[in-house]
Amino acid sequence: MTPAPVIELRDVTKSYPGGVHALRGVNLTVEEGELLAVVGPSGSGKSTMLNVIGTLDRSTTGTVRVAGYDVSELSDSRLSALRARHIGFVFQHFHLAAGRDAVDNVADGLLYAGVPLKERRARAREALAKVRLDHRSSHTPNELSGGEKQRVAIARALVGAPRLLLADEPTGALDTASGAIVMELVHELHASGTTICVITHDNEIADSLPRRVRFRDGEIVSDSRSGTCPASSRTEGAGS
Ligand SMILES: Nc1ncnc2c1ncn2[C@@H]1O[C@H](COP(=O)(O)OP(=O)(O)O)[C@@H](O)[C@H]1O
Ligand SMILES: [Mg+2]
Repeated sequence: MTPAPVIELRDVTKSYPGGVHALRGVNLTVEEGELLAVVGPSGSGKSTMLNVIGTLDRSTTGTVRVAGYDVSELSDSRLSALRARHIGFVFQHFHLAAGRDAVDNVADGLLYAGVPLKERRARAREALAKVRLDHRSSHTPNELSGGEKQRVAIARALVGAPRLLLADEPTGALDTASGAIVMELVHELHASGTTICVITHDNEIADSLPRRVRFRDGEIVSDSRSGTCPASSRTEGAGS
């Protein structure tokens, strides 16, 4: 039996009051172990889709399955549990807590997983070592560079060993060198089996990933794959 896809969106729409149709019927299947880029103009619905996948937001119509669960059938507390167990998030502007050191920011990634504080901190230190920031454990965000802040955010996302990592423009606020380090970590996590979706404005980054999903006006307009990947190697549209 083939395992359920990690992400399955069927005819997903998202509308906001005032007639904004952020998603207009999105179909997307992402298999375990895929690494994909989501690209498209500003306002085309990329973040909305990522938030719907990450269960931070609910779709207006359509079916959203994450890790095999139909999320429309889950209560808010079951959704929190699904997020805590299966999903890690990384955002463009890091979303770190000011005044809390790197260890505690990363330990917060386990807050909803029911792990006692002492173990949360121990696991946070291991996660900081994975992003090669052990030497910055006791620094607060204002004592870290942008690239270092994003590595703390990645450590917070990976500390719970999620199956799925969702990153919304993780290199968008970084210089090229720091962005390259962040993408290196993304590739390492992918190599260790994590399924990853990365929204990016950077064509060079998009082209370096095995699958690219292009958005325009709330719809997917192309979905192309290159190289080897676990799912069927289907190529559609211009794989620019
Ligand atoms: N909370 C919201 N309320 C109203 N409109 C929103 C909200 N979030 C996003 N939108 C609108 O939905 C559309 C898609 O936004 P978004 O998903 O953020 O695009 P992208 O990430 O591709 O730049 C835009 O027109 C945006 O203004
Ligand atoms: Mg966005």
